[in-house]
Amino acid sequence: FLFMVINTGCSPRVVDKEQVSPEQKIVIKFSHVVAENSPKGLAAKYFSRLVNEKSGGKIEVQVFANSTLYADGEEMQALQEGAVQLIAPATSKLGSMFPYWQLLDLPYAFSDIESVHLAIEGPIGEKLTDSLEKEGYVALAFWDNGFKQLTNDVHPIGRPGDLKGLKFRVMINSSVLEEQFKLLGAQAIPLPFNSVYRSLEKNEVCGQENTISNIYSKKFYQVQKYMTVTNHGYLGYVVLAQKDYWDGLPEDVRKILEESMVEVTDWERTMAAKINEANYNELVNNKDIEITTLSNEERRLWEESLSPVYSFFEKKISAELVNNLAIQKS
Ligand code: LMR
Repeated sequence: FLFMVINTGCSPRVVDKEQVSPEQKIVIKFSHVVAENSPKGLAAKYFSRLVNEKSGGKIEVQVFANSTLYADGEEMQALQEGAVQLIAPATSKLGSMFPYWQLLDLPYAFSDIESVHLAIEGPIGEKLTDSLEKEGYVALAFWDNGFKQLTNDVHPIGRPGDLKGLKFRVMINSSVLEEQFKLLGAQAIPLPFNSVYRSLEKNEVCGQENTISNIYSKKFYQVQKYMTVTNHGYLGYVVLAQKDYWDGLPEDVRKILEESMVEVTDWERTMAAKINEANYNELVNNKDIEITTLSNEERRLWEESLSPVYSFFEKKISAELVNNLAIQKS
């Protein structure tokens, strides 16, 4: 089904590279850590094709997926050093340099994706992107993945107490994610994305939290027996460039990139929801993994058990942002 979508509405003509002389060409390296058949992977490719077409082959966006160029923990530095020009890290991974972004990691902060977009497009988003700009970065777009679920290899998880004593991999750089597992009596082990499969396989960690599309595209179901649909936290991306680099681009080039980014972002958000849904259906039919879905009562228990993460965030990062979130919810 994905093949169809990508090859019908969304296949801009790729321009013959011979028409553009090498001196005229602008090469942009875009590095990311996920699979090509994931929402971010597909959007990066689509961006590249669209930019190629709109620029008549003058701008070439080279996409490096699957951490082939830089892994978590390396890509931010690669961007700083100009080794790559675009990255799209999960917002959680900005958390040590830009702690405000950890607001998006708060468990059950958003009841649906629309509420996430509302936050990003309002005063909360302004504060988050300001923090990036002050340090010389520009946030070009905000791409969705979806809500995270829990997988593990030990036993089915229904209640928050079921995590006690277990080791879970979390994304790097988010103290909020570490605190979340600590509250449940589990141990949080921050690891880069490209070592998750191996660590699960070798039982260095027995579980992890992620979106369905990452669980599916990276085949975590092969090394995890159980998945619980908790929808407990959001996972999305910021497409980032260095401000000096961006401002230094010729105006017509920047315009093409900006227009393409708007178009791709729109497409990506729709696709992210579709891919997660399609991958969920694949997992339902997959005998390797058993799926538990929370009842309303169980979900209430999760929310209650995880609510102290909010005071952790208030004390350590920003009370004002938690307040903004409460205003948005009311
Ligand atoms: C993860 O590390 O689990 C995710 O952030 C990967 C990604 O970029 O979606």
